[in-house]
Amino acid sequence: MLTLSRAIEQSGSLVVIADTHGHIEYVNPKFTEVTGYTLAEVVGRNPSLWKSGETPMKEYARLWETLRAGGEWRGEFRNRKKDGGLYWALASISPVRNAAGIVTHFVAVEEDITERKEAEQRQKKLNEDLALSQRKLLKTVEELQSAQMRLIEAEKLETVGRLAAGVAHEVKNPLAVIHLGLEYLLREHGGRDGETSQVLNDMAGAVHRAGVVIGDLLNLSAAKQLALQPVHLNGMLDQCLTMLHVPAAATRVHIAREFAPDLPPVPLDSQKIEQVFLNLCINAFHAMPDGGTLTVRTLLRQLDPAEAHREPGSRSGAAFRPGDTVVVVEVDDTGAGIPDDVLPRIFDPFFTTKPTGKGTGLGLTVSKKIVQLHGGRLRIHNRPEGGVRATVLLKA
Ligand SMILES: Nc1ncnc2c1ncn2[C@@H]1O[C@H](COP(=O)(O)OP(=O)(O)O)[C@@H](O)[C@H]1O
Ligand SMILES: [Mg+2]
Repeated sequence: MLTLSRAIEQSGSLVVIADTHGHIEYVNPKFTEVTGYTLAEVVGRNPSLWKSGETPMKEYARLWETLRAGGEWRGEFRNRKKDGGLYWALASISPVRNAAGIVTHFVAVEEDITERKEAEQRQKKLNEDLALSQRKLLKTVEELQSAQMRLIEAEKLETVGRLAAGVAHEVKNPLAVIHLGLEYLLREHGGRDGETSQVLNDMAGAVHRAGVVIGDLLNLSAAKQLALQPVHLNGMLDQCLTMLHVPAAATRVHIAREFAPDLPPVPLDSQKIEQVFLNLCINAFHAMPDGGTLTVRTLLRQLDPAEAHREPGSRSGAAFRPGDTVVVVEVDDTGAGIPDDVLPRIFDPFFTTKPTGKGTGLGLTVSKKIVQLHGGRLRIHNRPEGGVRATVLLKA
């Protein structure tokens, strides 16, 4: 017996013996070493003395259930030392029976596993931090890739634009000569017979269409200088919409104006910007051949951080910053919207889904260019409720 008690006294494990009511009868020196509680301080007390509140309650419930059923419980505790510090214990608690087989005591043998647990937790935290950094890294790579894509697109556009402008310059003068010639022929010979005047009119129509394309192309690479003047956007938009009154009535498109009353004047090249809004409105009309509603809205708002990053291809040095006050023009239609496979191409020069004669595929290319020259943004997306929204952001 003496050997046994000496062995327990000198054991490297914490040993606690309690009666079936949980009253402590014995703790060994290792227990005192780890927890700071002496035998005298804990005798007659309950092990809840060193409960930390950090071991889940259901763990205790399971413990008592196991012990009451006569079984041995193994598990981990996070306990509190006398000085308030915490330690981890890997415990095995088992019933002790007398000669008659009746449970009289419980004996707990515990291992101080604080170091291991803390190392584990440090590792876990490290892994989490690592995973987080990795996610951030992936996101950065994605952003970089998409920025690169946009840059490539912008450069392609630059090249195409320069090429097209070169061609346009060459074609512009011959076209003007043909135009004048046709006017002369129509004047002199137009009345002679119906067939001749029909042919001449068709030719004039074709030359006019070619002129529109050439005009758009030249716009695409137009001089970088803008004739900036303070413009009251509501007034300008009102003028555009008045111009569109007749085609609107013809296609039974209802025009709604939702203008913010407090818009400050914006420095704009009014001719160029007018062309942007005409392009956007005409696209909207084309999208609603069977009628619908064209809503033109103006508003003043603060740019949120997500919108603020700079777009490659925008040539203006003035990038948007979060919190900047921007004037926003939204052109909404109730048409069929833009199919997903078409959407990425709508700003490409000459991309059109319209029949020859109706679309040149340059409207949005030119419009984006003009808006970017102003240091602004042009975005086109499908509205959740159907139709398309074109958004023009301009620095106030
Ligand atoms: N409001 C809109 N609704 C549906 N599709 C649109 C709208 N605006 C533009 N698109 C699509 O984008 C294409 C390119 O537009 P744009 O550059 O103005 O050229 P165009 O009008 O000459 O076709 C259009 O052909 C059309 O497919
Ligand atoms: Mg168009």
